[in-house]
Amino acid sequence: MIETKIEDTTAMVSTLKTPPPVKIPITRPYFGQEEQQAVEEVLKSGWLVQGPKVQEFERRVSEFVGCRHAIATNSCTSALHLSLIAAGIGPGDEVLLPSFTFIATANAVEYTGAKPVFIDIDLKSYNIDPAKIRSYLKTLPRNNPTWPKCILPVSLFGLCPDMAEINKIAREFGLVVIEDAACGLGAYREGHHAGTESLTGNFSFHPRKAVSTGEGGMVVTNDDTVAATVRQLRDHGASKTDFERHLRQGGSLLPEYFLLGYNYRLTDIQGAIGNVQMSKAREILHGRHQAAEKYHRLLTTIPELSPPHTPANYIHAYQSYVCLFKADRTGSDGDSDFDPEQIKKLNRERNRLMAALEKTGISVRQGTHAVHTLAYYRQKYAFNDADYPQAYIADRLSITLPLYHRMTEEEQIRVVQTIKACLAGR
Ligand SMILES: Cc1ncc(COP(=O)(O)O)c(C=O)c1O
Repeated sequence: MIETKIEDTTAMVSTLKTPPPVKIPITRPYFGQEEQQAVEEVLKSGWLVQGPKVQEFERRVSEFVGCRHAIATNSCTSALHLSLIAAGIGPGDEVLLPSFTFIATANAVEYTGAKPVFIDIDLKSYNIDPAKIRSYLKTLPRNNPTWPKCILPVSLFGLCPDMAEINKIAREFGLVVIEDAACGLGAYREGHHAGTESLTGNFSFHPRKAVSTGEGGMVVTNDDTVAATVRQLRDHGASKTDFERHLRQGGSLLPEYFLLGYNYRLTDIQGAIGNVQMSKAREILHGRHQAAEKYHRLLTTIPELSPPHTPANYIHAYQSYVCLFKADRTGSDGDSDFDPEQIKKLNRERNRLMAALEKTGISVRQGTHAVHTLAYYRQKYAFNDADYPQAYIADRLSITLPLYHRMTEEEQIRVVQTIKACLAGR
């Protein structure tokens, strides 16, 4: 008994002598008292699902992005699924999407029975390369078993894809465009908000996003028919919304079900959090922007890391701050220079850097995935790593630095100084 007490005290003293490093998380959602109060209000009201708070959240998002309709769902993945169905995508169709994105983009296509066809990215923007979409479409044999019907570009890490060029190709080849704008809240291309230059835009409110409801998604569209279809599909295919039923006389009237729908509804608890978050959205986005600009300045002293690039007339939302490790050594200017052995070597170096940073309490991640290298897709479609070289490089060499609203200058300096020390082998 006494021995245990002595051991405990020793452990405590040694902890006091060398306190664990204060953690710098990869992100930190910006929640306060207002969100707590909003949740409490919903609990007291008794209307918990797809009620007035969700309706207000939809109005706020539609006004923010400048679209006629916004339809809340329980995630961006479900938003994408419904958008694809509403666009008539199904078995026998191909959907063209970037090979470097979160797996959910491709999964949503798989759910419909269509075939996801990966297109390599432009390493500078991390987004789908329109020139490669065009060359894929041009070389497609007429007897292809499936046929392209849709382009699904992504605003990766908060940077809009080249929608002008993508829409031009879509018009030329008769394809529909649906945007994965999961990371795109606050991102603009030539004055257009992410997700508003196509049939539908689809947003995520997961905690890794600037504005969060825990889980949550939103379909935005200017197409009245698509909006009506998505509204039904998210609610089991019901022809009448909960609102219409509750607010009319004889509210017990049950809806008809013409479509095979899903339960993709958002709760009012999440909607209420979303309303408070949207009222702070400009402030949050501004804070993240300032932190990103501070990183740009600090990173000029680290040539091993290339910071994210923003083309002229774009506004980056910085959902993530993703750098490329030793980009000058990748031979990435053209696919013909692609050297898998060199990328593997650099990948080991990047991983060592990431592990060293984690050890000091600084959370880092690779940007996202080259989806063709993930087991489900690799096995189902027999992909090789080298099939999409730029996506493979981005997968193996990207590194996301911590970024959040109200990240302090001291925290950012610590991140950058620690990277320098790790690279110097200290
Ligand atoms: C590019 C992209 N698409 C889709 C998703 C899926 O979003 P959700 O988690 O809301 O389903 C994410 C989430 O991180 C994402 O980054």
